[in-house]
Amino acid sequence: GQPAPQPANWPVPDNVFAETVTAVEHYTDRLFRFRITRPASFRFRSGEFVMIGLPNAAKPVFRAYSIASPSWDEEIEFFSIKVPGGPLTEHLQKIRPGDTVLMRRKPTGTLVLDALVPGKRLYMLSTGTGVAPFASLIRDPETYEKFEEVVLVQTCREVAELAYITRMVEALKEDPLVGEMVEGRLRLHTTTTREPFERMGRITDLMTSGRFFEDAGLPPIAPEDDRAMICGSMAMLNDTKAVLEGFGLIEGANNAPATFVVERAFVG
Ligand code: A2P
Repeated sequence: GQPAPQPANWPVPDNVFAETVTAVEHYTDRLFRFRITRPASFRFRSGEFVMIGLPNAAKPVFRAYSIASPSWDEEIEFFSIKVPGGPLTEHLQKIRPGDTVLMRRKPTGTLVLDALVPGKRLYMLSTGTGVAPFASLIRDPETYEKFEEVVLVQTCREVAELAYITRMVEALKEDPLVGEMVEGRLRLHTTTTREPFERMGRITDLMTSGRFFEDAGLPPIAPEDDRAMICGSMAMLNDTKAVLEGFGLIEGANNAPATFVVERAFVG
């Protein structure tokens, strides 16, 4: 397709960084990832999101994007959906290395380790691009300092949509920073709903029926040991929240840590 328009003299507002795209990888006609340079002054906690846009209009459209890279990484990575006719993603999906992406200066979000009370096992429950904040957290040593075990779940429509996180978890074993920490402690449980796969069904249904716990060889979720984070579409958040509350977990926030947290700023 056509590259997104990139006016040379676009005035960058004060509260925005203008960064350069360093890599783009497309997984399916609906999903892709991209990386941008990281401003030296930009700090965030793994799991947070930031507003991003393109310099293609006098008033650029900004959308919330979870940062998929860990807080120690020298670049910033995002995992994005491509919405046909979407005000941002219609253009964003055409970016190439060398293009400019705008990023607002202030990161925020609830999917941070500090918003959970201590526990033994951390569940990260996602659908589609909702896996992005967890791609950040599974590469952060602090996650393994705080939890003995991490169970990352992603449900997607199709098998190819699982490639991003599947390849990342595979590569993590060789990672110099967390490679040894993830050994035997990070599990990835992927499922599909619309294409045949070895594990099928929505995570909500699989947890309610108990099938998930049987397949994974894990005890049912219990408030004594288990903590959870949820990221996905609004319907998924609501349904998953109800499932966790059914197991006795309680929703927390940055200023009131509890046994699970939800990211509501996320847009699919
Ligand atoms: P399904 O195929 O049954 O709709 P989407 O691409 O539409 O955001 O969906 C991503 C994945 O999330 C799909 O596998 C979809 O399953 C699943 N999903 C959609 N809504 C919910 C929900 N309310 N609870 C759990 N999973 C959901």
